[in-house]
Amino acid sequence: MPGSAVLQLAPLEALYDYGHGGEDFGTAVREGLSLGQKKLSAKFLYDARGSALFEEICTLPEYYPTRTEISLLEKHVTEIAELAGRGASVVEFGSGASVKVRLLLDTLAAPDWYVPVDISRQHLVASAKDLATQYPDLTVLPICADYTRAFDLPRSVRAPILGFFPGSTIGNFTHGEARAFLQQAASSLGAGAGLVLGADLMKAPDILRAAYNDAAGVTAAFNLNLLARINRELDGDFELSAFRHEGRLLEDEGRIEMHLVSQRAQVVRAAGKTFAFREGESIHTEYSHKYTIDQVQTLARSGGWEPVRSWVDDQSLFSIHFLAAR
Ligand code: TRP
Repeated sequence: MPGSAVLQLAPLEALYDYGHGGEDFGTAVREGLSLGQKKLSAKFLYDARGSALFEEICTLPEYYPTRTEISLLEKHVTEIAELAGRGASVVEFGSGASVKVRLLLDTLAAPDWYVPVDISRQHLVASAKDLATQYPDLTVLPICADYTRAFDLPRSVRAPILGFFPGSTIGNFTHGEARAFLQQAASSLGAGAGLVLGADLMKAPDILRAAYNDAAGVTAAFNLNLLARINRELDGDFELSAFRHEGRLLEDEGRIEMHLVSQRAQVVRAAGKTFAFREGESIHTEYSHKYTIDQVQTLARSGGWEPVRSWVDDQSLFSIHFLAAR
């Protein structure tokens, strides 16, 4: 495994650690808040508090993606398992708590390896250990890496290989980043691999706006936690009540944009610098692109994958796709 440290950690086969977790938060904040359109990378939303808040978002009545995707997976998992073939090894990108993958592992015929890839080391190791204990026939090998970068599968992982990228995470990339991710995934998994991909669909504006501006304010708390995190870790003095969360729908661009909007003109100190905000000026924190089925399939082709089958729920809220690497 070039570039990675290998650790032995029973009941896991091993842990491959690429050390990608170290991207400096302070540098990112100093650079991002100095831009014309202030910007912070979405990956910093997911500290321990942020990850817990995101899990809460997934249970909100307005937030349709999680429950819709889970019921799609439940409904079509037998067909997915047939397409994947016997003895498949599952590689999950951004595995988090490894909840959805259990549906797959329970239905695949004699799954061989489970390789969760995630940047958040503690979370990764804990959920991989749980899984290894609950699925004793499975060889579990977590890879701690930024899954948008190249990583190698252990040589002993043999075909058939099934990638798993659920959620609407593909939508958090720009179109260029999404294509680059798909190309990277195709080269990491190899020709002939399958990929189960989740993608959120374009729909009525009201449904989208509600999903990203929930009534209970959990999404707002999740977004504002980024400022709280800067205060905690980078000696910032953000006044949280002086910023407001906004999930903005840009219909022509086909996306929701998450912003933190300054409620007044103010100067904030963080990470050893000062940053001036005008009233109404925002920090952009996340994109969430919404696709049509055609657009997902076109994107997949441009990233080296052939669409094999696509499934949509009755209300056309969400889609999952089985792709094959060329
Ligand atoms: N992947 C999720 C999505 O695009 C992320 C998300 C949901 C999110 N709600 C958010 C990101 C609010 C930032 C702010 O649906």
